[in-house]
Amino acid sequence: MSDMATPTHRTRVFSGVQPSGGLTLGNYLGALKRFVEAQERGTETLYCIVDLHAITVWQEPAKLRHATRELAAGFMAAGIDPARSILFNQSQVSAHAEMGWAFNCVARMGWLNRMTQFKDKAGKNRENASVGLFAYPNLMAADILTYHATHVPVGEDQKQHLELTRDIAIKFNHDYAVDFFPVVEPVIEGVATRVMSLRDGTKKMSKSDPSDMSRINLTDDADTIAQKFRKARTDPEPLPDAPEGLEGRAEARNLVNIYAALADCTPEAVLDAYGGQGFGAFKPALADLAVAKLAPINAEMARLMDDPAEIDRMLGEGADRAAALAHPILEAMFEIMGMVRSRPRTPR
Ligand code: TYM
Repeated sequence: MSDMATPTHRTRVFSGVQPSGGLTLGNYLGALKRFVEAQERGTETLYCIVDLHAITVWQEPAKLRHATRELAAGFMAAGIDPARSILFNQSQVSAHAEMGWAFNCVARMGWLNRMTQFKDKAGKNRENASVGLFAYPNLMAADILTYHATHVPVGEDQKQHLELTRDIAIKFNHDYAVDFFPVVEPVIEGVATRVMSLRDGTKKMSKSDPSDMSRINLTDDADTIAQKFRKARTDPEPLPDAPEGLEGRAEARNLVNIYAALADCTPEAVLDAYGGQGFGAFKPALADLAVAKLAPINAEMARLMDDPAEIDRMLGEGADRAAALAHPILEAMFEIMGMVRSRPRTPR
């Protein structure tokens, strides 16, 4: 084992969000809010706006630029402090793409063929999907492993990609007889790891759903939020007294979980308060809670978006710090693989 192949063992949290479309309540509860919690625990945290992932499907350049800045504003408005967390956009740190290429050569076609998200996103028109959309999980593995990150907080939908990241790390270590890449721990925790559509409790809340009524966007105003919860699909039964009573009631369960996640309490506590009551009472309470939690974020996002140059400056600074961490790990990986690295190189 080469000297440079010594892994970092301390806890390092990494996660990413795509700047494609706006942020949903699913992204907020399943990811952003938990990113802030990791930061508040004092762990080393890196959060990445994955613009290279976004272009796996066509992005209008002006919209991509705007979405990147808006997502950065969303991170900060939700509580990410760029002084304590490293916040940056992926394309400014070239190590991601370089390691992603190496992983294209480690991962097997069969592994990627099993990725359900590719099947969902490519749909029936697979022949016309970009190669990037297929290879995307390899880039995601590179995002994580180029920092030797140990913990990755994500929503439930990313689980399979994290398993692939583990497989890539294990295969690389095995093929080159090193103990170089850490085997990553997925952190899929809490009641909001899979926030469902407000129109269909069996489908994930998603920014790509054609119906805007299916999701709460972080940019929605108070009236829109109230209207979306009021119109959310439910059943005619009152809420049960305990979570077991939510069995087979996907929509009811989803609303209870959203309430619990927003209020930082358990579904049991929500049902202690609302069990026996109908949705006529629960939905307005949920809407009020959501507005109380989201309105300050919404307002802060708007304030930050007034100064895009400051956002860009902050992202550049974050990218400098990220590159300084990624660079030696990338170099060590190439060294292990047998690449001649004879230029004096600085992180970029
Ligand atoms: P993305 O941009 O689709 O989603 C960002 C994060 O939000 C979570 N999420 C949800 N959580 C709960 N309920 C929902 N309805 C919901 N919708 C989205 C996602 O699980 C995710 O945590 N491939 C990733 C981005 C990525 C990444 C990474 C993540 C790229 N590289 C490295 C972690 C580590 C994605 O497309 O997430």
